[in-house]
Amino acid sequence: MKITLNSPLDMHLHLRDGDMLKLTAPLSADFAGAVIMPNLVPPVTTPTAMQGYAARIASAMDGAAFSSYMTLFFTPMSEKELQAAKETPGFFGFKLYPAGITTNSEGGISDMAQADTTLKLMEEMGIPLLVHGESHGFVMDREQEFLSVYRHLATKYPKLKLSMEHITTAAALRLLDEFPNICATVTLQHLIITLDDVAGGALRPHLFCKPIAKRPEDRDALLQAALNGHPRLMFGSDSAPHPRCKKEACGCAAGVFTAPVALPRLAEIFATNGAADKLQGFVSGNACAWYGLTPVQKTITLQDTPMMVPASYRSYGEQVVPMYAGESIGWSIVR
Ligand code: DOR
Ligand code: ZN
Repeated sequence: MKITLNSPLDMHLHLRDGDMLKLTAPLSADFAGAVIMPNLVPPVTTPTAMQGYAARIASAMDGAAFSSYMTLFFTPMSEKELQAAKETPGFFGFKLYPAGITTNSEGGISDMAQADTTLKLMEEMGIPLLVHGESHGFVMDREQEFLSVYRHLATKYPKLKLSMEHITTAAALRLLDEFPNICATVTLQHLIITLDDVAGGALRPHLFCKPIAKRPEDRDALLQAALNGHPRLMFGSDSAPHPRCKKEACGCAAGVFTAPVALPRLAEIFATNGAADKLQGFVSGNACAWYGLTPVQKTITLQDTPMMVPASYRSYGEQVVPMYAGESIGWSIVR
C-alpha cells in the first residue's frame, strides 16, 4: 500500500542551531515546511535574530524546498515592535512559554496579565499565538490546570489565532470542541505512548518530554480525533533532539527526537486504522485552512515497506537517539 502526501507540514519543530541544526535540518526536509520553535540559548526574541536563524536553517536545508515558518519567543511588545515582526519575511507568530516550564523557557511569562496589551494588539493585527500550555502544578495535571488560561484567552480575544501546542489530554480536546476559535497541535508520540511507556517499567529517557505522556484514555482520544479528521487538530511533531549524554543522564532533558520517523509512522498509523484518507488534512490541509498557508509544492509517497531506524545519529561529536532507535518500523518513504 502507498500513500501520497502533498506538501506535508510539521507545525511544531525544534531544529536547534549550530552543529545540531546541520543534523536535524535534512531529517525534516521531506516536509514542505515547519513552524520553527524559538527556544534557543538565548531565545529568539527579535526580528534580527529570527532572520539570522532562518538563514542558518535555509543553509542547513542545503537546497531542499522547505518553508521555515519562524516564531519569536513571546515577550511583551509595543505595536511598533509587533509591526516590525509582522513585516519580517518568514515570520509566522509568537510562541508563549510560561516562565521555566520547559527547555530554555526561563525568560517566559510568569503572570499572564503581563501579556494583555500585546495579545490585544496581536488579535487586531492577525498575529498567531502558539502556547506551551502547562501550569507549574503536579506533572500529570499541568495541562488540565492550564485549560482555564486558554478559556480566558479565547473568550477575551475571540479573534486571536490561538493554538494549544502539543496537547496530551482528552480534556484539551474537549476545549477544542468548546471553542471554535482555538486550534491545537499534537505530536507523534502522544498519539502512541502513555506514561507507562515512559516510566511504567524501566525508565525510558528517550520518551521523556514535556508535556509528559498521559493516560491511555487521553492517548486514545487524541488518536481518535486525528483519525476522525478533526479540522482544527494539526500535526506538530515537537521533535526535540538533545545529545545522548543529556538524555541518558541524571537530570534527563525533555524531548523526543521523532523527525526521522514522523511521516512513516503517521502513514502506518493512519493506514492500519483505515484512515489513510484523513492523513493529508492532519499533516497539511488543516493547518493551511486555519492559517491560510500556501506551502511550497512537494509530493511525498509513503509505502508499507519496513524501515530500519538508526540506533543513533551523529552530530559531529554528539550522538542523538531517535524514537524507535534500532527498531524496524512498518512504513518508509519512497525515495
Ligand atoms: O519535551 C520538550 N522538549 N518539551 C518542550 O516544550 C521543549 C522541548 C525542547 O526544546 O527540548
Ligand atoms: Zn516544543
